[in-house]
Amino acid sequence: MSKPDHGIVLEASDIHRSFRQGSREIVVLDRAQLQVERGASIAILGASGAGKSTLLHILGGLDKPDQGAVTVAGQSLWSVSETERAAIRNREFGFVYQFHHLLPEFTALENVAMPLLLRGLPAAAARQQASAMLDRVGLAPRATHKPGEMSGGERQRTALARALVGEPACLLGDEPTGNLDEQTADRVFSMLLELNRELATSLVLVTHDPRLAARMDRRLELRNGCLSPMS
Ligand SMILES: Nc1ncnc2c1ncn2[C@@H]1O[C@H](COP(=O)(O)OP(=O)(O)OP(=O)(O)O)[C@@H](O)[C@H]1O
Ligand SMILES: [Mg+2]
Repeated sequence: MSKPDHGIVLEASDIHRSFRQGSREIVVLDRAQLQVERGASIAILGASGAGKSTLLHILGGLDKPDQGAVTVAGQSLWSVSETERAAIRNREFGFVYQFHHLLPEFTALENVAMPLLLRGLPAAAARQQASAMLDRVGLAPRATHKPGEMSGGERQRTALARALVGEPACLLGDEPTGNLDEQTADRVFSMLLELNRELATSLVLVTHDPRLAARMDRRLELRNGCLSPMS
């Protein structure tokens, strides 16, 4: 299903975030800016400790910036109630991490259906959509497997299916293939880019891998608290 075109899907302006460590204040983000166009794929690179995960948490409404605003699909994340923010998060974002974070006691199908159930979709419809998304990532034959009964790549593809099943405006990923061997990482990454094109879901991915970053539309480096374009 196609979504109305908002041009800019995700916008962060003047983001400031610091952490207090004893008597010291560590400034992690200092007037960071980001604009994500609909369907764009953006790689965020930067040294360990530069603040990439902190930035992703703020973009996804999981951490509050000290200053600045985040807008997703026209909705301001930090000027609404916690309940409303949770609803926006569920509707507009998919999240993938280095570790899959699937629920171990549930099957692949149940894990993928979870965001739809949380959204209030009837169980039968949620199962149907989850099943279609699992099929799309090539995992229809693993639908009844629990995470412990799948390979690393299969688990990560299941996590991808779960992140994308609700057709979010934007997928936020923190080294989503960082825990896989090179060949599997390439395959999962290709699948991610394919879904990005097909569903017009924007991608904002943190990666340490310049090879993967090179396959995305834009590369930004986080340094000294702000983002700047890389060649
Ligand atoms: N809750 C916190 N309290 C104190 N300091 C924090 C907190 N969260 C992050 N930091 C500090 O903020 C800085 C940025 O952390 P962050 O996890 O965003 O880095 P990163 O770029 O994702 O690094 P990596 O590539 O290693 O994952 C680090 O110096 C970290 O120690
Ligand atoms: Mg990190």
